[in-house]
Amino acid sequence: MRILGIESSCDDTAGAVVEDGRQLIVAERLSSSSLQRRFGGIVPEVAAREHTLAVLPVVAGLMESAKLDQSDIDAVAVTQGPGLIGALLVGVTFAKALALAWHKPLIGVHHLEAHMYVNALVEPIQFPALVLVVSGGHTSLVYWRDHGDLTVLGSTRDDAAGEAFDKGARILGLSYPGGPEIEKLAATAPSEVLFSLPVARLEAGSLDFSFSGVKTAFSALVKAHSEARAECAKALEDAIVEALCRNLNMAYEHYPVHQVYLAGGVAANTRLQERVREWGRCHGVAVHVPPREYCTDNGAMVAAAGYYRYRLGYAMSMADGPLTPWPLQNVSIKGG
Ligand code: KG4
Ligand code: ZN
Repeated sequence: MRILGIESSCDDTAGAVVEDGRQLIVAERLSSSSLQRRFGGIVPEVAAREHTLAVLPVVAGLMESAKLDQSDIDAVAVTQGPGLIGALLVGVTFAKALALAWHKPLIGVHHLEAHMYVNALVEPIQFPALVLVVSGGHTSLVYWRDHGDLTVLGSTRDDAAGEAFDKGARILGLSYPGGPEIEKLAATAPSEVLFSLPVARLEAGSLDFSFSGVKTAFSALVKAHSEARAECAKALEDAIVEALCRNLNMAYEHYPVHQVYLAGGVAANTRLQERVREWGRCHGVAVHVPPREYCTDNGAMVAAAGYYRYRLGYAMSMADGPLTPWPLQNVSIKGG
């Protein structure tokens, strides 16, 4: 079954065709991030306007480059939420029009579940698993029992992990998106630890995250040590990675799985990958990391998630619109 996936929840307009949720046939992506860079972050109106310009060229372009026509596509999947409402509307409306014109089923996909399913493009998902879903808008720790059956164990109470990288980069005068910039700068710091930032501790037993405190502490650190930018960037990266690894380890104590998956834009971070892999080796847990280009928003993850959603009997009606907010827990058919 070939599914065309369309993603437009933030600043990437992306499309891809994936066969049986596993095999990528073609993908295309246009990002408005260089335009957003001028504003130091994402301006929702700008993102929505850019999607309206990009969505047709992206989808027509990928179909043409793979020499596909509508008869080669079995269903259309689209990110239904969560995300920026104006941005989502563009993708959802475009996908509805395509499904209607091509007489294909339409599948609405949850953006974070799509990030998780990008791992299925590498090898079949092995259940049960713990997943760290770390993106610019969300940070969640998930126990993934089976397709359509997950429990969200913890989420961020304030900023997302990616947002903490982005805000930190802005404090250092680096460009958007900030994660890769912080990573590059931190890599130039000497290996010995010069500074450390506090990692928030919430009430005992909580697997939630909080990154707003680290941002405030980082701002003060940069003010006090403006000559040591790389060391500051390293301290921020270490604090964010430490918070993610600490909660993963706490979750593992209750859910001793053999598989851990990383997903979302922040999963591209090398330090995070190294730390989780190291942890996995110590605990005999297989750690799966998506290829770097599939950590950030893309169409393939939507097509892959759409396939499994469709197999579970989910379809989106023409009367449905974008869903935002849309708690990840609600995609679970078993209700966690
Ligand atoms: O998943 P994504 O493309 O979009 C959302 O769903 O939000 O994630 C984008 C986020 C941004 O905050 C960006 O700074 C972060 O992922 N990111 C990284 C890296 N690459 C992207 N953060 C840390 N290290 C990276 N290498
Ligand atoms: Zn995303």
